[in-house]
Amino acid sequence: MSSPLTKELLAKAKPVAKDFTDFLTEAVTPFHCVQAVSRMLQSAGFTQLREHEAWTLTRGGQYYVTRNAGSLIAFTVGGKFSSENGAKIVGAHTDSPNLMLKPKSKLTKSGYCGVDVQMYGGGLWHSWFDRDLSVAGKVVFRSKSNPTVLFTKLVDVKRPILRIPNLAIHLTKAEDRDKFSPNKETNMVPILSTVIAAALHGDQSPDEAKHCAGLTRVVLEAAGESSDSVDIVDFDLSVYDAAVPTVGGLYEEFVFSGRLDNLNSCYCVTKALIACSSSVPEDPMVRMAVYFDHEEVGSSSPSGAEGSLVPDVVERLTTSFVNEKIGSQTRPIFVSNSFCISADCAHAVHPNYADRHNGQHAPMLHGGPVVKFNCNMRYATNAETAATLRVLADLAKSPLQDFCVKNDSPCGSTIGPILSTLTGIATVDIGNPMWSMHSVRETCGSVDLVHMIELLKAFYSSYHGVKVTNQ
Ligand code: CO
Repeated sequence: MSSPLTKELLAKAKPVAKDFTDFLTEAVTPFHCVQAVSRMLQSAGFTQLREHEAWTLTRGGQYYVTRNAGSLIAFTVGGKFSSENGAKIVGAHTDSPNLMLKPKSKLTKSGYCGVDVQMYGGGLWHSWFDRDLSVAGKVVFRSKSNPTVLFTKLVDVKRPILRIPNLAIHLTKAEDRDKFSPNKETNMVPILSTVIAAALHGDQSPDEAKHCAGLTRVVLEAAGESSDSVDIVDFDLSVYDAAVPTVGGLYEEFVFSGRLDNLNSCYCVTKALIACSSSVPEDPMVRMAVYFDHEEVGSSSPSGAEGSLVPDVVERLTTSFVNEKIGSQTRPIFVSNSFCISADCAHAVHPNYADRHNGQHAPMLHGGPVVKFNCNMRYATNAETAATLRVLADLAKSPLQDFCVKNDSPCGSTIGPILSTLTGIATVDIGNPMWSMHSVRETCGSVDLVHMIELLKAFYSSYHGVKVTNQ
């Protein structure tokens, strides 16, 4: 069902977009995304489970579990759940392309303290130049008084402490500017300070130091720890754009931020799952929201979509609610009755590069979630899963758009094909339209947040009533 843009929709979307920017401001790394989602789930009454413990699950229960602090599964067990009924799953990812600090990041160049980084994923790296950059992530500490005990903390420095400066126009040749292609090892080192200012502040780094002393100091401060009592052993720290995510455009119809791919989906699925809590007692199925790390680097990790996160939770569910009649065959029947919406972002038609889209498959901002097709299985969508989604969109009164990449263009991919291959669960790939995917500052539409939340609510509350029969 198509619902054209109205002033009412725009007005309804504004507070949602504002709330989304608060989420984006907190969720600066996958770890912080999981932390923000955990807090939302906890306030909605979800109980945290631990992977290393045995679970006692009950019908009507609402739970979540995290892995490596960067991925999370939230699930509710319907009040009328029977183990063969399967799950309604929405999958998203928590990670975005960024620069990650090397294990030994100290670098001195021409009198400046730099921070040596690795490239995580496929970023539009040119967009990282001349930005106000900060550092956040997870740090592993060791207590000086008890050196066999390690503990982790999330940190977010928040201040713009780093810069990757562009080279002045007068120092570049015209052909350099036409084909701007910085060397990723040498031209993209974020600069922290002058060496001399570091010395003036007592932040001298001995030759053997792994990191600039000033960086170590601000990380300790951000963690609320002191070098008197702990050492930093290792970390997963990322560089991110400290410019605050904002609602923008003349009519405040856009969201400008980094990490929209794929925090857009993480936010919408969390809102949808929580919003339908009241109908869990009537539900014959499990509802699941999965937030994977490592999508941008191929999903092959214990906390990625190719890992055992979903199979492990499915196993706990099918063994906790054993149906004596089907016994050991429960799992494949559970899988066969499950359905997955893989929610990642899609490419909205770019008005200045409109030729990159095929006319019939050119999604618009505010046009609603995009169903993504690729017959070479870069997306997991097939006719049955797409048709099922269209029924749900009708129930949600949410518009849908279709996307299929041009044959002379490369195509992205996402967790849909990976998770459905691993588990066998029927899957449709969708996502909200956006511009500048993988830029440090992307753009999406405010109204699509509302449409996606409504669509996912309809999925969680009504999917079990949708039937496809093969005749
Ligand atoms: Co993505």
